[in-house]
Amino acid sequence: MRKVPFCLPWIGKEEIEEVAQTLKSGWLTTGPKAKQFEEKLQEYNKIGNAIAVNSCTAALHLSMAVSGIKQGDEVITTPLTFCSTVNAILYQRARPVLADIDERTCNISASEIEKRITGKTKAIIAVHYGGQPCDMKAINEIAKKHNLVVVEDAAHALGAELEGKKAGTLADFGCFSFYPIKNITTAEGGAIVTDNKEAAEKLRPLSYCGINKDAWKRYDAKGSWYYEVAALGFKYNMPDVLASIGLWQIEKLDEFIRARAKIAEQYNKAFAEAEEITTPFVKEKVKHAWHLYPILLDLEKLKINRSRFIGEMNKRGIGCSVHFIPIHMHPYYREELGFKQGQFPKAENVFERIITIPIYPKMSGEDAEYVAENILQIAKENKK
Ligand SMILES: Cc1ncc(COP(=O)(O)O)c(C=O)c1O
Repeated sequence: MRKVPFCLPWIGKEEIEEVAQTLKSGWLTTGPKAKQFEEKLQEYNKIGNAIAVNSCTAALHLSMAVSGIKQGDEVITTPLTFCSTVNAILYQRARPVLADIDERTCNISASEIEKRITGKTKAIIAVHYGGQPCDMKAINEIAKKHNLVVVEDAAHALGAELEGKKAGTLADFGCFSFYPIKNITTAEGGAIVTDNKEAAEKLRPLSYCGINKDAWKRYDAKGSWYYEVAALGFKYNMPDVLASIGLWQIEKLDEFIRARAKIAEQYNKAFAEAEEITTPFVKEKVKHAWHLYPILLDLEKLKINRSRFIGEMNKRGIGCSVHFIPIHMHPYYREELGFKQGQFPKAENVFERIITIPIYPKMSGEDAEYVAENILQIAKENKK
């Protein structure tokens, strides 16, 4: 039986050689390779400042910290996201306020954001779900009206574009993830980008224990032993060993996205006539990064639910996932923030029906065909 895992990273010999060279150099942690990687991120995204960190979670937290988000503040975000988005708000002791999604794109709805604004609202975190940018024009307009900071959680969206501009550069701060299944990987890693020079000057020390100069240089022969801690910072820096992987991955990013788009196209065609399956909706003026390919099942037409459908896929050697279990359905957030079932009906409705299926550059056309054929077969066998 063919096996198609949910995702596999694509690591070439260039990445392996670069990592080996870094290991042999004796300089393992943050240093020249991390700096070089930051420059490549800046160049790729056409943005003034990139700070490489050890996860997107760290980048999101830094975006909150540098914006002065604190206890008593409210930050609006989507229920259909990974826990890190809301954790970043909670780390600052602020309150995450959820605004329901637009069911077509699974992105946060701008009109729902507007309904949730209070005198305590200080920021919005817009998650570009699956690699499709949110309606940033509407979100930025709301933010301007209410004087709010806007952060893009672009964990899925490195390389995506809205009206020709890169996702992550469409608001005050953009946060990327380089986790193994993301558009590019550094094993674990992330970055925060901004065109705000003043904020960038604060972000760098915040990402490295609050030390107010290029901390890594103090171990360099030309560096000085002297440093000062000027703020309460975090140990979020990206080591050179990991940045070495990123240096090559970013060179391959556009090729990776083209390969993902090709698989998406193949799936779109395969499911075009299947009435039990809804394929992703792509808005105009968007370049989709195709980090995820979510299908929505029409449960009225099927005898099995989403979980059993995934079970059938697994039996056929196909890895699947669900993005995401809505935030308000997790016990911690319910207990801590008082969320209730039924509060965000659109996110819940999507959650009941969604399956994210394999899509990554390492997949062959035959792999995609195998996945599509099996989905169609399971749907046919379980039709009401
Ligand atoms: C929407 C979203 N935000 C943030 C993160 C956190 O990324 P990282 O694992 O790099 O911290 C993820 C990870 O999957 C994510 O999906």
